[in-house]
Amino acid sequence: MKKVQEELRIFGGQKDFLDEEDLQKCIYLNAVIKETFRLYPVPLLMPKETNEKSWENPQKFYPERFLESSIDVKGQDFELIPFGAGRRICPGMHMGLAALELILGNLLYSFDWELPEGVKNEDVDIESLPGLAPYKKNPLYLIARTKMELNNDIYIV
Ligand code: HEM
Repeated sequence: MKKVQEELRIFGGQKDFLDEEDLQKCIYLNAVIKETFRLYPVPLLMPKETNEKSWENPQKFYPERFLESSIDVKGQDFELIPFGAGRRICPGMHMGLAALELILGNLLYSFDWELPEGVKNEDVDIESLPGLAPYKKNPLYLIARTKMELNNDIYIV
């Protein structure tokens, strides 16, 4: 989180909101999005299975693996196809990616995120409910602190 924020805040400067142009320059944010797609494929992709090893330390969340790699999510590199590939590729891919960058980028740009008191990193689970789109089984509670006002806590579910 700190690494993404550092990058976003360098590009953002004094802006209130980062737009698509700012976010496209954020190489580390994009590596984090790719790494999240890699580790948590959406259920729509269920019928596909990998039959050979493509990644070093595949279980590790390690966005840096994408910094030196040309692997993209747009259906050309079969190691990573979160939107599918070929004729049935997701038609909402560009909208989905733009929305993800804008939402995740601005949430991390504007707030510092913490777990509530007494909750540890290992208490956070990544279980999802069955269905075509992955909804969290248990809500994630986080405290968001604004960059400016340390006492202005917002609770997000
Ligand atoms: C991050 C966001 C999204 C992800 C990860 C995603 C992922 C996928 C995947 C894996 C498929 C199946 C592709 C296949 O069969 O090989 C799919 C299909 C589809 N997606 Fe998305 N999608 C996203 C956003 C969207 C958005 C925003 C829209 C519409 C505005 C959309 C509309 C569709 C439609 C209509 C299909 C069915 C296409 C077909 O079967 O011909 N998706 N998506």
